[in-house]
Amino acid sequence: MIKKSKSTAMPSDTHEKFNELSAILKQTQHLWKPVAFHDVGIGWLNCLPELAERLLSFDLAQIERLHFDPEPLIESLQGYIPELTRLHLLSQLPGTSSRALALVDPRVHAGVPGKKWAQVQAFCAGIGATTSPVLDYCAGKAHLGFYIEQSLNVPVVSLEWQADLVAHANERALRENRRLNAQHVDVMSEACQRYFEGQPHVVALHACGGLHERLLSLCISQQTPKIHLAPCCYHKRSKEHYLPYSKKGKENDLLLNKSDLHTAVMETVTASASQVRQRKALQTMRLGFDLIQRDVLLHEAFLPLPSMPLSWSRMNFEAFCRHWAKAKNIPLPIAIDWSDYWHRAEQRFHQVSALDLVRALFRRPLEIWLNMDKALWLEEHGYEVSLSTFCERKVSPRNILLQATR
Ligand SMILES: C[S@@+](CC[C@H](N)C(=O)[O-])C[C@H]1O[C@@H](n2cnc3c(N)ncnc32)[C@H](O)[C@@H]1O
Repeated sequence: MIKKSKSTAMPSDTHEKFNELSAILKQTQHLWKPVAFHDVGIGWLNCLPELAERLLSFDLAQIERLHFDPEPLIESLQGYIPELTRLHLLSQLPGTSSRALALVDPRVHAGVPGKKWAQVQAFCAGIGATTSPVLDYCAGKAHLGFYIEQSLNVPVVSLEWQADLVAHANERALRENRRLNAQHVDVMSEACQRYFEGQPHVVALHACGGLHERLLSLCISQQTPKIHLAPCCYHKRSKEHYLPYSKKGKENDLLLNKSDLHTAVMETVTASASQVRQRKALQTMRLGFDLIQRDVLLHEAFLPLPSMPLSWSRMNFEAFCRHWAKAKNIPLPIAIDWSDYWHRAEQRFHQVSALDLVRALFRRPLEIWLNMDKALWLEEHGYEVSLSTFCERKVSPRNILLQATR
C-alpha cells in the first residue's frame, strides 16, 4: 500500500481539486513532458541523478512489472518525487455503484472477446436502470448496443462509420428480432447532428479523443439529458494541441500536445505476453534505426517513423533499417556493423524503458485532469457530473466513466 503523506485530506470542491491537480502537474512537467524514446539526454537526468540511478538499476523484468503496476511504482519512486503521493491521492476515483448484471440470451455475447464482454457488462452496470431509448455513439460491432437493448430493455440506435459493421449489426438485429438500428454515419460530419436532436440518452464506450470531444459538443448543443461516456486514446484527434474546454481548464492550461495526450494512455495492461514481446522487438528496431540515422546524418535529432503493425517485429533488423532508410532518403554506408548497432539498440531499449517509468507515474493524473476538464465544462452547461471507474484496470485501463445528467 502507498504510504499516506501528511496532507491526505481531499478538497471537497471539484474546482479546488482541479486547481491543485493542475498546480502539481505544472510544477512537475519537466518530468512528464520529455519522452525518453525521442530524447537521448532528457533534461531531468542532471537535476535528479539519484532517480536516474535508481531507475537504471532495475532489470527489464522489473521494469515491465512496474509499468503494469502503478502502486509499487509510486511506492518505489515517491522518495525521489515528493509530489507523487499527493498526486496519486488526487487521481483516485470511486468505483461505480455496482448493479446486479442482467442475464441475457447467450447469443448476445457469442463471439465477443472475453475482455470486451467484461467491459460491456461493467459499462452497462454503470448506466443503471433506464427507460429511454439509447444512442450508442461510435458503436463498432454494437456489442454494447445489443447488450443494452436486451438487459435494459430499451431500443437502441447505434452510429458507426464502418459500413460492414453497420450492415452486420442490422442483419443481426433482424435475425435475432432485436430493437437495434445501426446507422452508417461519420460522427464528425454535420449529418450526425440529427441523431442527437431530441435524443434522451447517449452512451459511448471507448470513443477516441476527437470523437468523444465531438460527442460532448453535440450533447451540450442539443442539451442531451443523459450521457455515459468512457473515453479513450485522447491523442487521436486532428489538432496537435489540446485547448481546454472548461473555464478552469483554460485558467490552468497545461499546454498539452499529442505526445502528452499519448502519455495518458501509455499502458499495455491488456496486451498478451506475445504482444509485449513483439512490441519490445519493434521498439528495439526503431531505436537501432534511430542510432544509425543519427550517425549517418551527424545530428542529434530523433527521426520519427510512422506507426506500423506489430507483425513488423518479425522483420530482420537490417531489412527494417534499409526499408526506412530508403523511405526517408537516408544514404546508408555499404559497411554497417549490424550486430553492434543491435547490441546498442538493446541497451538503449533498457535505458528508455527504465527512464520512461517516470512518465508512467503521471499517466493517470493526466487522464484525470483531461476528464475533470470535460466534467467542469459540462457543469458550466448545467449538467450534474460524476467521474468514477466502471471496471478494474486489468479489464481495461481506460476505465473512467463520465456520467452527466441535466
Ligand atoms: C475503439 S472503437 C469502440 C467501439 C465500441 N464502442 C466498443 O467499445 O466496442 C471506436 C469505433 O469508432 C468508430 N469510428 C471512428 N471514427 C468514426 C467516425 N468519424 N464516425 C463514426 N464512427 C467512427 C470506429 O470505426 C470504431 O468502430
